[in-house]
Amino acid sequence: MKNIKTLGAALFVSSLAFSSSGMAGGASAEALSFTCAGCHGYNGASTGPATPSLAGMSQAYIEDAMKAFKAGERNSTIMVRIAKGYDDEDFTKMGEFFSKQKMHMADQEVGGNAKKGGKIHKKSCKKCHEDAGTSAEDDAGQLGGQWSTYVKYSLEDALDGSRDFGKKMIKQVKKAHKKYGDDMIPALTDYYASQK
Ligand code: HEC
Ligand code: HEC
Repeated sequence: MKNIKTLGAALFVSSLAFSSSGMAGGASAEALSFTCAGCHGYNGASTGPATPSLAGMSQAYIEDAMKAFKAGERNSTIMVRIAKGYDDEDFTKMGEFFSKQKMHMADQEVGGNAKKGGKIHKKSCKKCHEDAGTSAEDDAGQLGGQWSTYVKYSLEDALDGSRDFGKKMIKQVKKAHKKYGDDMIPALTDYYASQK
């Protein structure tokens, strides 16, 4: 995720100024969300491409992600530093706020491999990522309509082991990668991007 570091760092400085001016602790959920908007967009509808939309993900997923960032258990370019500025109560509020927003389907280009990606998804991913990865009930983030660049980074992290997705998912990703090689990621990102 090196290439988004610079952008992230620049945006981080402005968000830090915001959050250190007394926003955390007792702040409303909406007020907290403003400190995220510089990167994740208004109400969690990110303008992309490397920052994920948060709108409509499950509360549990968002809370868990924030806790994992704060504890340094999930790799990140920027979120580890952001998460350190908040406590569990704030994470609950953030989860509540973003989970209530309508899921954002990114308007982005779709390459020509969506059909193949759909096939891979159905066989290897659908079990845990229902409705093309747009079901909040799975507590597994957003795939359909998420920014492709972010999904691509996530899948690279799955392949090189830099983010812990759980043994079962890794097994499926590795199996699909063995079969499709370097075609796997572009096929999947085309498929997810084709969800509008
Ligand atoms: C400086 C830009 C920036 C700010 C400000 C920011 N984020 Fe992030 N966020 C990112 C990036 C980039 C990622 C991808 C992971 C990484 O590289 O750190 C991310 C990832 C996440 C994720 C994981 C999403 C997923 O699909 O797994 C959550 C949840 C999240 N951010 C919540 C928040 C919340 C809540 C705030 C406000 C308190 C916030 N972020 C503020 C840039 C930012
Ligand atoms: C056994 C269930 C399972 C299977 C199978 C599975 N996943 Fe996942 N996936 C998860 C869970 C759970 C998470 C959330 C992990 C976390 O961050 O704690 C996740 C997260 C993700 C993310 C990151 C989402 C985000 O917002 O950061 C991507 C991308 C992803 N999965 C893609 C896939 C693809 C592609 C496949 C098929 C090749 C697949 N998964 C198969 C359970 C699964």
